[in-house]
Amino acid sequence: MIYEDMQFEIVTIFPGFFAGIFDNGILRRALAEELVSIGVHDLRAFTHDRHRTVDDRPFGGGEGMVLKPEPLAEALASLGIGPKVERLAPQQVEGDMKVAISQDLRKETDCGNDRYVPDLGCKSYQGTTSVVPQSDQSESGALAPAEEFDAEGDGGFNPRTEHADSMRALAPEGNPSGESKSRVILLSAQGRPFNQAMARELATLDRIVLICGRYEGVDERINQLYCDMELSIGDYVISGGELAAAVVVDATMRLIPGVLGNEASGEFESFGVADAEITTAEDGVPRSQHGAGGLLDYPHYTRPAEFGGLRAPEVLMNGDHAGIRCWRREQQLRKTLTNRPDLLQGATLSKEDRKLLEAIRDEAV
Ligand code: ADE
Repeated sequence: MIYEDMQFEIVTIFPGFFAGIFDNGILRRALAEELVSIGVHDLRAFTHDRHRTVDDRPFGGGEGMVLKPEPLAEALASLGIGPKVERLAPQQVEGDMKVAISQDLRKETDCGNDRYVPDLGCKSYQGTTSVVPQSDQSESGALAPAEEFDAEGDGGFNPRTEHADSMRALAPEGNPSGESKSRVILLSAQGRPFNQAMARELATLDRIVLICGRYEGVDERINQLYCDMELSIGDYVISGGELAAAVVVDATMRLIPGVLGNEASGEFESFGVADAEITTAEDGVPRSQHGAGGLLDYPHYTRPAEFGGLRAPEVLMNGDHAGIRCWRREQQLRKTLTNRPDLLQGATLSKEDRKLLEAIRDEAV
C-alpha cells in the first residue's frame, strides 16, 4: 500500500528544541520512510529589525511579553497560509474576523524554512527554500474548508467527541474531492484539552501547522485570523508551546496508517476505540484483547514469571485467549476506575462491562 506523507510544520522561536526529539524509535522510522515530514520554521527569520524582535510588551500592562503578530503572519505566509477569511467559506468565519486584512501580512519570504530530517548519525536540519508562491496555494496545502471536518462550524474539535464519532468524522467518503486537508493549531495553556480522539482526527489530515506560543502568549489576532483551533496538552503551564507541539506530533504521527506497522496497533491501547470499530485484521488467531473503548490500557507482564516475590497472573500464561480477554477487560475497568473514573462516563461499555464494574465497585464497600 502506498501512503501519502503527512506534513507537520512547526513555527517556533526555538528551532533547536526539536533537534533530536524525533530521532528515536517509531518516529525516526516514520521520518526515514517518508511517511511523515516535519518542517521546523524559525520565527526570528521573519523579523526585519537588527534585534530580530519577536515579542513586545502587552497592551494594558502586566507581566511578561507577547509574541508579535507580524513575524507569525509572515511565517504562515511563507507556508502558503493566508488568513482564515481567505480560505474558509464565509459562513465559517466569525463576524469579528471579517476585518480588513492587509496584503502586507502575506508577504512572501524565503528564509527560515528548515525541513527536519531524521538523524541517521549526526544531528542536522536540511535547509530548504520551499517557499509556496501565493498563486500555488490551492495545490500546495492552503487550508481546505473546515466544513467536512467540523460539522458544527465551530472551527475546532468537540472536546466531547466520542471515539466512534472521531473515527468517522473524516472517513474517506467525507472528503470525496481529495482536496488537501490542513489545519493551523496554536499551542497554548488556554486551548481545548488535546486527547487521543483529537490525535485520531489529526492523523487523517494532510498537513498540520503548529504555532508554538511563548512568553505570556501570542497576540490574539493571530489566533482569530489564522488558527483553526487552540490546543492545550494539559491543565498546567509549561514554558512554551514547543514541548506541546512535540507531544501533538508524536501522538498524531503514530496513528498515521503504516507508521506503527505490524508491531503494534494504536487501536488496542489506552483511550482506543471500541471492539466494533477495530479494523486490525485478526489473522485467524483469537484476539486476546478488547478495544479499549475509551478506557485505560490493562497491565502488562513479561518474563520472568516471578519477580520480586510477585508472580505474573497465571491466566496470561496458559494460552486461553478467551480467559485472557476477560482478565484484561476487568483490569482495564479496574485501572480506569482507580486512576481515571471520569473516563467511564464517555466509555463504550457492554452489558458485561457494566456488571463487572458494579461488582468491582461493590468490593470497595
Ligand atoms: N504552553 C504553555 N502551557 C501549555 C500547555 N499546557 N499546552 C500547550 N501549550 C502550552
